[in-house]
Parts: sequence; C-alpha cells; structure tokens
Amino acid sequence: MESKMKRREFLRSTAIAGMGAGLSGALPHELLGQLKPTSIFKPVCIASSNGLQATAKAMQMILSGADALDAVIAGVNLVEDDPNDNSVGYGGLPNEDGDVELDASVMHGPTGRGGAVASLRNIKNPSRVARLVMERTDHVLLVGAGALRFAKAHGFKEENLLTDESRREWLKWKENLSTDDDWLPPHNIETLDIGEGIKSAVRNTGTINCCAIDQRGNISGCTTTSGLAFKIPGRVGDSPILGAGLYVDNDVGAAGSTGRGEANLLSCSSVMIVEYMRQGKSPEQACLMACQRIAAQTKMKRLLDDKGRPTFNVNFYAVNNRGEHGGAAIWSGPRYAVNGGEAQSRLLECAYLYKRERR
Ligand code: GLY
Repeated sequence: MESKMKRREFLRSTAIAGMGAGLSGALPHELLGQLKPTSIFKPVCIASSNGLQATAKAMQMILSGADALDAVIAGVNLVEDDPNDNSVGYGGLPNEDGDVELDASVMHGPTGRGGAVASLRNIKNPSRVARLVMERTDHVLLVGAGALRFAKAHGFKEENLLTDESRREWLKWKENLSTDDDWLPPHNIETLDIGEGIKSAVRNTGTINCCAIDQRGNISGCTTTSGLAFKIPGRVGDSPILGAGLYVDNDVGAAGSTGRGEANLLSCSSVMIVEYMRQGKSPEQACLMACQRIAAQTKMKRLLDDKGRPTFNVNFYAVNNRGEHGGAAIWSGPRYAVNGGEAQSRLLECAYLYKRERR
C-alpha cells in the first residue's frame, strides 16, 4: 500500500466527494470508474505528424466525454480510411508480393488491457480489430489468417486495400529492384541500360501513433500501420508489439513510436519510455533516452554511417499523467501533433540526437 495518495487519485476523490450524495473517503475503484466527475483533468492528445486530424477528432470526442481509447481509435480511423496516406490502412504500401498487410495495437489504461493484430489483410481498420482482440478474447495478439477470420466473425467486411497509387509505387519498386529479373521499368527502343535499380526507392515505415488523456485522467493509446513498404510477407514491425510500438500505464503515461520497427523491436522502447517517466524523466527526456539506447545498441556496420551513427530514424512520442508531452527522434526533422482542447491541432518539433545536414 502506498502511504501517499497519488495526486490524481486525490483529485478524483475530492471531485467525487464534491459531488455530494454522501460520498466520502476512499471509494472502490469500480465505483470511481463509473462515476463521472466534472472535468478535472486537462485532456491532451498527441500523435505522430500525420495525426493532425486524428488528434483534433480525438479531442473533440474527449471534450464530449468520450473515453480516451474510443477517441484515439476514432482519430486513427480517419488516417486508416485515407487513401492518400500510404503508410496506414487503406492505400498502405504493400508487401513484396503486392499484398497490403496491416499491424495495429491498442492499450486501455484504466483497465490495464491491450490488444493487437499483425499481418492482417483485407481489413482497413486494424485498430478496431485490435480493440476487439482486447475486449472479446482472452488473448492479446492475433496474426495473419487467424486475425482475418476473427475480424470476419465480428462482421468486418473484406476489401481490397491496394489503391491504384500504392499499386503503382509497388510496381515501380518491383520493376527497378534488379536488372537480373524479367520485370522491366518503362523504356524505349533507344534504351541501352535498363537501369541499376532505384536506390532511392522509398521504403516507407510510416505509421500513426496516437495517445490521449481524457477528462477523467484516463490514458489510452493506439498504433496502426501498413509497416515497411515491400516487406517480406509476414514481416511484423514494432507497431503491434505492446512495449515496443505502444505502451500505456494509467498511473504514469503513454508512449509510442514510428520509424524503423526492427530497431525498436530490439529495444522495446515504449515500455522503457514509460519506465523512464515513472522515474521522473520528462516525456521528451524519456524519448531521447530511448533514442540513445537504440543508437548504442546498433552495432551492425551496414546500419551505421562513417561516424558510427544509425543511418535510419526512429521517432518516439510520449505523454505523462500530468499532461506534459514530448517527442524525440534519432535524426532531426520529425514533428508531432498535439491537441490540448483546441479546434485545430498543431505540430511541434521533436528533440533529436543528431542534426541532419541539409544537402
Ligand atoms: N514502425 C512501423 C514499422 O516498422 O512497421
């Protein structure tokens, strides 16, 4: 038993006691959850930079009394449904065979539960399926064909997630991948050199992570992605792995990530960030410490530049239970979206370990 009542619990008890009805002293946790005290926490919602609309939507719901998990899922659904975001849901860049495979996770702070799906095909809102894994199974993670069967059992409709644009991107990658296969990029009668492959092909690891604190001070989060573009079928990144791509502790805060999932899978940084915050670090400091950990842990020369720095980027976003938030990345540039109750969200700079030189 803690001798000191946590500030949040104190505020909760005070507010509920203030509601009268003869309620006083410590209340059972279940009752605290059911009672709806007036707004005593300043809600906040943060996300990766592609979450401007998602955070605005989530905040709108939170201000209407929604639970943080309902809000963040509704927020990221906007991005999952958006054919123009090719890193998440519908229109996400496919695997090497041209099939879109999606990963997602959710965590609900007040009940301490989580759910996730990985390598899910043909369902454009994996975040909603992840939530059902949490709520309607005794499991935490479902993958592949099993996840699809589960989604269909709950009434999700299968649909083709490949848009014309993402198919064209995939075809460009495929045709330029090698000069030793039979897939040829566009060429004409004059062409001598059929190409050396596009070294600059975009291997997107875009993702959306969104976390929020609602008016009751409850914290939840969600991460959803189509993962690394043109991946080996079955490749799973950090997004659906609780502790890596997302972690929530209702008494501490939440953290999530975007960027190179392989690096984050080897460091499980989201749970580390929450633990750093528990030890008193600010969200930004905690995110920077996670970046440092990845940099220190990356030893394969193929992943390092001539100064020994990782060549890839990983971005972290975190919010603590006081509503303070921050983001950090290995390399400068990334920003994160935040909404503290305004009609429009804004983007803030992430802290970074290394400054990217402009070329
Ligand atoms: N961070 C997303 C992924 O690597 O799949």
